[in-house]
Amino acid sequence: MTLKAIDYKKDTPICSDIVYNKIKENKIHNVGKSTIRIIKKLVDDIEAESGEKFIRMEMGIPGLPPSRIGIDAEIEALNNGVAALYPDIQGMPALKHEISRFAKLFLNINVDEKGCIPTVGSMQGGFATFMTVNRLNPKKKKTLFIDPGFPVHKQQMKVLGLEYETFDVYNYRGEVLKEKLEEFFKSGEISSVLYSNPNNPSWICFTETELKIIGDLANKYDVIILEDLAYFGMDFRKDISKPGVEPYQPSVTKYTENYILFISSSKAFSYAGQRIGMMVISDKVFNIKSKHLLNNYIYDTFGMAMIYGTIYSLSSGTAHSPQYALAAMLKAVNDGEYDFLAEVKDYGDKANIMKKMFTDNGFEIVYDMDENDPIADGFYFTVSYPGLSGDELIEEFMYYGISAISLSTTGSERLEGIRACTSLIQREQFPDLEKRLKKFNEHHPIY
Ligand SMILES: Cc1ncc(COP(=O)(O)O)c(C=O)c1O
Repeated sequence: MTLKAIDYKKDTPICSDIVYNKIKENKIHNVGKSTIRIIKKLVDDIEAESGEKFIRMEMGIPGLPPSRIGIDAEIEALNNGVAALYPDIQGMPALKHEISRFAKLFLNINVDEKGCIPTVGSMQGGFATFMTVNRLNPKKKKTLFIDPGFPVHKQQMKVLGLEYETFDVYNYRGEVLKEKLEEFFKSGEISSVLYSNPNNPSWICFTETELKIIGDLANKYDVIILEDLAYFGMDFRKDISKPGVEPYQPSVTKYTENYILFISSSKAFSYAGQRIGMMVISDKVFNIKSKHLLNNYIYDTFGMAMIYGTIYSLSSGTAHSPQYALAAMLKAVNDGEYDFLAEVKDYGDKANIMKKMFTDNGFEIVYDMDENDPIADGFYFTVSYPGLSGDELIEEFMYYGISAISLSTTGSERLEGIRACTSLIQREQFPDLEKRLKKFNEHHPIY
């Protein structure tokens, strides 16, 4: 199918001169290749000048109010004076206790409280881990990314001057994943593997077959799996909301002790602004000893180097009052008094409606299957339009008052695709989205 080029710019929902001029003013050469924050700035500028509100799907910001339990605990802690005190680098005991309980109740794993560490967002957890894990063995200095993925993780690797490998998992679902991973592991250079599950941007979720392959190979090749659970419990096809009861959050932890988990509070608790996340290091990884760590740290034990070397150097721990907030939220969740997934389910419901609007207007879902099952509806989905690359689509969408990011920035090989985020769009905006997509489809006939 090809796209018929027509002069549509006269009649677009957003004045085309404004869009064109703002792209130029912001010195953007390729809108599709821009980072999320640049696109955000461009859209802010266009909105301000045109007075038109965009359908904003570029940034994964929680679209829900933060948990009240967290806010109240934080206010109380501040009133009690914690702002004056340095927090412990390893995290406060009550929080470490609740993180360990959470791991038991929602993942069915036993982790010593020592390895349960608050971080300044899960973002810092990743940064600290890339730094530390690639210093354990001079022969193993690369992290492998199972892509598509969150672009900032690669930015972290670049900032740190570290090397990485990557592949798009699109063509390697199911049993063939084993062969693909072994291609990389056989080099002996891979220290660790990072992926998010559910996946940002594609919302694919690994099946048990795939998680077992990853876990078994981690054991065989002595590789540490960095499992990013930023969207914990948000594969709404399985209800994991009951503490201590199956099903649990699907995880590689069922198959290997070689893991570090990153659990963000940004989406699950709508707590992105307070920059607090959890790093969960398995007992086995915490206790790994390596003389090579002594090149950079005074400790030869991984967990000690991580906390009192890396995290100490980065931020001397995590701000005090958000730790109280997270401890209170987790306690309520662990005690079965607060169903943290009840509210975020709305993202899945919105995705279902939005996907239909897109497919009714000529778009196709890019990452659509988890082996034999259609993917879940959740925080993100990916779409393409016949005849346009993802980068082109992002730029075209600016004229239609729709913003998203191109998959080309995520390590995806599906260069025709873009990622849409469901969180910020309000249901009242659905008629607008539908109208704009219809107009787009009219202006870009498919033959
Ligand atoms: C896959 C993934 N990992 C990590 C993060 C960052 O989480 P935090 O806000 O806890 O730093 C995000 C945020 O969008 C994400 O999508």
